[in-house]
Amino acid sequence: MTDLTPVSFAATDLDAIAGHEGRVAVVVTPEGKLEQSARRVNRLTKGAVQRFVDSEGFAKVKAGHVTSLAWPAGMAAKAVDVICLPRNHSVEDARTAGAALGKLRGGAALLLAADGARRVAEMVFGLVMRDYDFTPHKTDAEVSETGVTVMASKPDEAEAAAAPLLAIADGTFMTRDLVNEPANILTTTEFADRLAEMSALGLDVEVLDEDALEKLGMRTLLSVGQGSDSPSKVVVMHWNGGEKDAAPLALVGKGVVFDTGGISLKPAGGMEDMTMDMGGAGVVAGTMRALAKRKARANVVGLVGLVENMPSGNATRPGDVITSMKGDTVEVINTDAEGRLVLCDVMWYAQERFAPAGMIDLATLTGAIIIGLGHENAGVFSNDDGFCNAFLKAAAKENEGAWRMPLGQAYDDLLKSRIADMKNIGGRPAGSVTAAQFLQRFVKPETPWIHLDIAGVASVKSATALAPAGATGWGVMALNRLVADGYETTD
Ligand code: BES
Ligand code: MN
Ligand code: ZN
Repeated sequence: MTDLTPVSFAATDLDAIAGHEGRVAVVVTPEGKLEQSARRVNRLTKGAVQRFVDSEGFAKVKAGHVTSLAWPAGMAAKAVDVICLPRNHSVEDARTAGAALGKLRGGAALLLAADGARRVAEMVFGLVMRDYDFTPHKTDAEVSETGVTVMASKPDEAEAAAAPLLAIADGTFMTRDLVNEPANILTTTEFADRLAEMSALGLDVEVLDEDALEKLGMRTLLSVGQGSDSPSKVVVMHWNGGEKDAAPLALVGKGVVFDTGGISLKPAGGMEDMTMDMGGAGVVAGTMRALAKRKARANVVGLVGLVENMPSGNATRPGDVITSMKGDTVEVINTDAEGRLVLCDVMWYAQERFAPAGMIDLATLTGAIIIGLGHENAGVFSNDDGFCNAFLKAAAKENEGAWRMPLGQAYDDLLKSRIADMKNIGGRPAGSVTAAQFLQRFVKPETPWIHLDIAGVASVKSATALAPAGATGWGVMALNRLVADGYETTD
């Protein structure tokens, strides 16, 4: 797995700051007030920080911005990076500043001399999140040994505040690694193996093989994977950090390790992007990892359906009728609408087995959601306003775009089949809604449910605030926040 940038915490030491050969970062407010460490560095540099703050250019500097003062006199550092952060900064400001520091650093050792446990922790989090690079297939990849040293007057407090955030970064990195990994390497078996390794973190991990899935009656899921040489699997990850017997929150992920479209083959152009079609399962895995790493006091169960959608002599045909685990029959009109066939069985299983307090499924489900919302927001569909609003609030707090979409009977009607209980597609209009509508047919009325269509946000072509181009890990922060704010027991 891609390692997090190493971060260490130490008490402020003026000699160490003066002798540090990489970069040194300090904090000032937009009003031009220097933090204690910034004042010290200012003295070392014979007033360079103050001169910058007094300069005309400083008026244009916004919260979260970082300005580099190169080769400061009186110090060994190659630059002093001046972070502009208001006293009442937002979480986003601090993370943005951290991300900027990470970009400027470019492999050099960074010494962040700053106070205030929360802001330091958020800056470190932003830096680490943005400092991700997927290199396992680059034979000339340089391994940077340098990291970040935080110097604060109360380093223990800063370290304690950073610990849960580093757990989230770690979970996010797992998600990104899984989403970035090509399908010849991340087969269904390799995916399940990587999840099983998480038992070392205290998660209970069960891997259900095709025999087990057949016995459970998960025929719609199996029908998607039957054209592939990679065996279909369902993996169940249990994190029991909450009260014994309290109903868990269930997270369900679409894990199509590659989506060719099946017999309804996709066009060649861009098909390589379908390595990310396991993005939902990747977010479920990363969230479970984050919860375990920070020992969340909540019961959460993560379930992923791992399949590969391939054409072959054994593949499902358009027109085939399949019986789901629930018992409802589905006429497969288009084998490229496979995600819903995977999810409907896993969602039904999750409800039958766990009677969850709430269920959230995540899937790179439709191209239509990209047409509707682009790469800025995931589509949010729900049968429960309270649950949905709690999620939207959590996503907003973490600055992860999420936008609610409608559901309704008229959309559901589009799934009517002449010969079976339903078709697997509803036609071109409102393609994301009819996909969600299909899933809702497998949600029990008593289960509060959210469907997240992450096709537009799971992997992007250009860098975002906290992620380089490629897999983003969208959703790990929001789901972790939802758990932290609404499901954790407190003393
Ligand atoms: N995996 C795709 C959706 C997708 C598209 C994800 C682009 C990420 C980027 C999904 O399985 C799919 O093929 N959906 C079809 C549904 C259609 C056949 C009803 C689509 O969106 O075209
Ligand atoms: Mn498809
Ligand atoms: Zn797909």
